[in-house]
Amino acid sequence: MPAGDDTRRRLRVGRRGPVMVEGPVEVVTENDGTHTSDRFQNAICTCARSRVFPWCDTSHRRRQRPAGSARADERDRAATGRQEDGPGRHPGRDLQEVFQEAQVSTAVAGATPHHTDPPLPHARGELSEAVITALREPGSPLPSPAAVAEQDPFGEDLQLLLYVLYELHYRGFRSVDADAEWDPGLLAVRAAADARFLAALREGTGDADGGGDGDVAAAVEELLVEPVGHDPDSVSHHLRRSSELWQLTEYAALRSLYHLKEADPHLWVVPRLWGRAKAAMVAVEYDEFGAGRAEDVHARLFADLMTDLGLDARYGRYLDHAPAAALATVNMMSLFGLRRSLRGALAGHFAAVEITSSPGSARLAEALRAAGAGPAAQRFYDEHVEADAVHEQVVRHEVLDGLLEEEPHLAPDVVFGIRATGFVEARFAAHVLPAWRAGRSALRAPLDASPPR
Ligand SMILES: [Fe+2]
Ligand SMILES: [Fe+2]
Repeated sequence: MPAGDDTRRRLRVGRRGPVMVEGPVEVVTENDGTHTSDRFQNAICTCARSRVFPWCDTSHRRRQRPAGSARADERDRAATGRQEDGPGRHPGRDLQEVFQEAQVSTAVAGATPHHTDPPLPHARGELSEAVITALREPGSPLPSPAAVAEQDPFGEDLQLLLYVLYELHYRGFRSVDADAEWDPGLLAVRAAADARFLAALREGTGDADGGGDGDVAAAVEELLVEPVGHDPDSVSHHLRRSSELWQLTEYAALRSLYHLKEADPHLWVVPRLWGRAKAAMVAVEYDEFGAGRAEDVHARLFADLMTDLGLDARYGRYLDHAPAAALATVNMMSLFGLRRSLRGALAGHFAAVEITSSPGSARLAEALRAAGAGPAAQRFYDEHVEADAVHEQVVRHEVLDGLLEEEPHLAPDVVFGIRATGFVEARFAAHVLPAWRAGRSALRAPLDASPPR
């Protein structure tokens, strides 16, 4: 954050965690010399446990063994062993093949700009069929809000319908009129779908009436405890242990729906904030968007990771492959970002992402290294180990504290945003982990094909 007196640099020192120093900085260490950083804020390790010392990587966090984790460790080891023996391996995607495809894919990515509008996806039920048809042929009948309100909120049909309607506010779809974004009929369908999804998220987090307990400090504290050893319910723990390239590739394809528009849904909250919260939110977003350098935009780093893994890095390429549990993680961000009434939930969600990202990214970087992925694949997660150790501090102490200072009544929604993030991520893990443990794909179609219409 800018110093009150611009002749002085501001350091933020707490009893726990890193010392925060405004950048650019040069840090001289005892043994290995000088380290420089141009980040707007820098988190300097004070526990001496960081693997990227002198920068913080959140290694200072308290650790706790999850209940029943010893047995879970064994179970997971057994599953990993089976995969290594052969029968569980994903058919036809050995390392050499993936790297051969990477060369082809680089050529494709070079010829086709990442910003090309994606085609409309394949429908997954009556409701998404009607909406997709209406986008293709304006004027065709739309589903009634009553029909939308009866749908399974986490089912394939409703999640795809939501994804398609939200996407109109981002980049839209090829051959779809940009003004469809503000079509009253489509907005009415989305309002009904929003309400259904939001009610299900509140129910899933035990906050059905929207009242919540509002204990932001306790909700944040829960996120700051790292499990001791292996957490069998965590996707990044699983991937670090399995280090299977085909699983990492599927993970990247699924996450591309968000990472290729990384930090975009969070920008919508900026005009709804004030003072410290606004200044800090913009500072973190500035970092997410490459601090003025196109080659460092996080979405671009993810596109490079995808190319390294032999994936097609075009925006929206894997929408048809993503099951509802993956779509819900992105739809929740769009819902929170687009609705001013949910600005507290958006801030809570953003805090949850930034707080949990650094240790998770370290596991994913390790998994990619162990799987023999290329340097660009590792770089995305390596960058997030350091960047998010900084973002975590800024979001907790400036965005959340600043927002609650201005609008204390939003505390229950901040907690809801934190819990809803954990809820949709747990549903995502519950979808992908059993498939991968059984040696099956977690996608709706093989990576080199699209599902039939
Ligand atoms: Fe990022
Ligand atoms: Fe971040």
